[in-house]
Amino acid sequence: MASTDAAAAPGESLDVRPIDADESERVWPLSVEAGWNQNLADWRFMLGAGRGFGCIGPDGGWQASSLVLPLGRQLAWISMVLVTKDRRRGGVGTGLLKRCIDEVRAAGAVAGLDATEQGRPIYLPLGFRDLYPIARWHFDAVTGAAMPPPAGVALRPVAVADLPRLALYDRPLSGMERPSILAHLALRQPGRAWVAEDAAGKIVGYALGREGRVATSLGPVVADSEAIALALIGRAATAAPGPFIIDVPSAHAAVRPWLEAQGAVTPRGYMRMTLGTADRLDDPSHVFALAGPELG
Ligand SMILES: CC(C)(COP(=O)(O)OP(=O)(O)OC[C@H]1O[C@@H](n2cnc3c(N)ncnc32)[C@H](O)[C@@H]1OP(=O)(O)O)[C@@H](O)C(=O)NCCC(=O)NCCS
Repeated sequence: MASTDAAAAPGESLDVRPIDADESERVWPLSVEAGWNQNLADWRFMLGAGRGFGCIGPDGGWQASSLVLPLGRQLAWISMVLVTKDRRRGGVGTGLLKRCIDEVRAAGAVAGLDATEQGRPIYLPLGFRDLYPIARWHFDAVTGAAMPPPAGVALRPVAVADLPRLALYDRPLSGMERPSILAHLALRQPGRAWVAEDAAGKIVGYALGREGRVATSLGPVVADSEAIALALIGRAATAAPGPFIIDVPSAHAAVRPWLEAQGAVTPRGYMRMTLGTADRLDDPSHVFALAGPELG
């Protein structure tokens, strides 16, 4: 592979290259270095469903990455913004972000992302604004019996035939049009996908999950009420092996004590941000867990 630019000074152009899905194995070390949970299956899915952009170093290895994942025609998620430690503070992160923003704008969409504390300082000057804070929780296992669903609500594993209805349920509540992501997660880990229905068979919530590099990731969890969400999270965490990570909008006050009762700790948080206005995205009232900052 050809050599590339040295660290670009701010304002200088950066040699940004597309990252294809068949590069997954070679780009994965960037998220491992950052201590993130994505595994190879995540990278393969994300680079196949979205568009990756990155920079390579003199040895031909990937030194930086970024990703744009379409969530319908009006919204696109920017994620996996990673710069290897040796190449930070040289404008690479900002350069890749600008490339991603150009991509989103060319598609006529609004950009959204979940910013780490390290990422937020580069997003604010580019015009992103805060929507709401999110806490990342870690816990090993559910202690005691999982919380039962409210009266009249039943939980069962998601079936393939549920997927179109699940996407229709999800869209107005999450503000995201993501049938292929929901299908991927539900089918990748069928034992970790749960749906809640009322007595009439109407969907009133769901929880998905997937294996990760260091922990099982729980989410997205979208539900009519906090009680349904807690029953779904408990069921999903009882059915899958720990340890677990789950990203919960801080607005959900009742989820916090439940997580603390499981011994969960929250070592870091994110800020959901957008560049422009996307319908419903600023309202986390029915979003109890993200798909993850990498998927929206
Ligand atoms: C966040 C990250 C991508 C930034 O990459 P980068 O190439 O260093 O970013 P830039 O050089 O474009 O930084 C732009 C500006 O952001 C701010 N900034 C970047 N890193 C910072 C830090 N650690 N502390 C404070 N400000 C910081 C500075 O204002 C910097 O400008 P300056 O270097 O002229 O002072 C990189 O630190 C990283 O990979 N971190 C780990 C993964 C991560 O958290 N990614 C963000 C996901 S939302």
